[in-house]
Amino acid sequence: MSEVVLSVDKLMMHFGGIKALSDVSLKVKRNSIFALIGPNGAGKTTVFNCLTGFYKASGGHIELNTRGVKTDVIKMLGEPFKAVDFVSPKSFINRLRYKMFGGTHLINRAGLARTFQNIRLFREMSVLENLLVAQHMWVNRGMLAGILNTKGYRKAESDALDHAFYWLEVVDLVDCANRLAGELSYGQQRRLEIARAMCTRPQIICLDEPSGNRSAERDDPAAARRARSDRGADRTRHGHGNEYFRPHRCTGPRRCHCRGRA
Ligand SMILES: Nc1ncnc2c1ncn2[C@@H]1O[C@H](COP(=O)(O)OP(=O)(O)O)[C@@H](O)[C@H]1O
Ligand SMILES: [Mg+2]
Repeated sequence: MSEVVLSVDKLMMHFGGIKALSDVSLKVKRNSIFALIGPNGAGKTTVFNCLTGFYKASGGHIELNTRGVKTDVIKMLGEPFKAVDFVSPKSFINRLRYKMFGGTHLINRAGLARTFQNIRLFREMSVLENLLVAQHMWVNRGMLAGILNTKGYRKAESDALDHAFYWLEVVDLVDCANRLAGELSYGQQRRLEIARAMCTRPQIICLDEPSGNRSAERDDPAAARRARSDRGADRTRHGHGNEYFRPHRCTGPRRCHCRGRA
């Protein structure tokens, strides 16, 4: 397996006349921490937005090497229409689909997760529900299985709960499992966002200013120690803050003793 999990070459992002990114190149190795550092407006968030499909890069190349597959991110997000699309219905529909719905979910499915500089949680959902939603790609989602409440469906649901509580334990939010995400303090919401990203079972996680604006609340050192003791996902981080905790790469759901408390 290649050492390089993310490779960015000559990435460009232009907003009209503004060149937010010009020839950005970087390589992130597996099991490493990579930081983007720069003043406000340098383009850090824009890099993340391009990597995760929120922006479609104006040029350059992004390659993910995750889950044993090499993914050309820009291609996955859909290139501009070409003449050939108009004669091939299949490629036309594919192109149209990406144009209409975007491709962030495909990037996540390929193994890249992120958090946001301005927290974006499902505020009206509980903490636990936020983590269950993040696993929708991993659980048995068949409507019929759900209606019939099959054994496979129940097992998938139970595994998803285990996985969610595993991450709640890591970020020290087990006691908040049934609270609304929007009611949590800023620091708790930041931690929940990381847990939600990790629940998608990524191979690389991009943390956008993970410790920004956190002067009022320090990370829990115990949680940080616990997290560090496990194997980490490769991490790309940027921001001005202190060391944040290192997320695990979960090797499988673990039964959590705290479940009864939720
Ligand atoms: N959607 C957008 N439209 C226009 N300009 C943008 C957009 N997003 C980012 N920019 C510009 O790109 C530059 C980089 O912004 P950003 O990536 O947010 O910087 P950083 O995260 O390093 O503070 C800024 O000049 C910003 O104004
Ligand atoms: Mg930013």
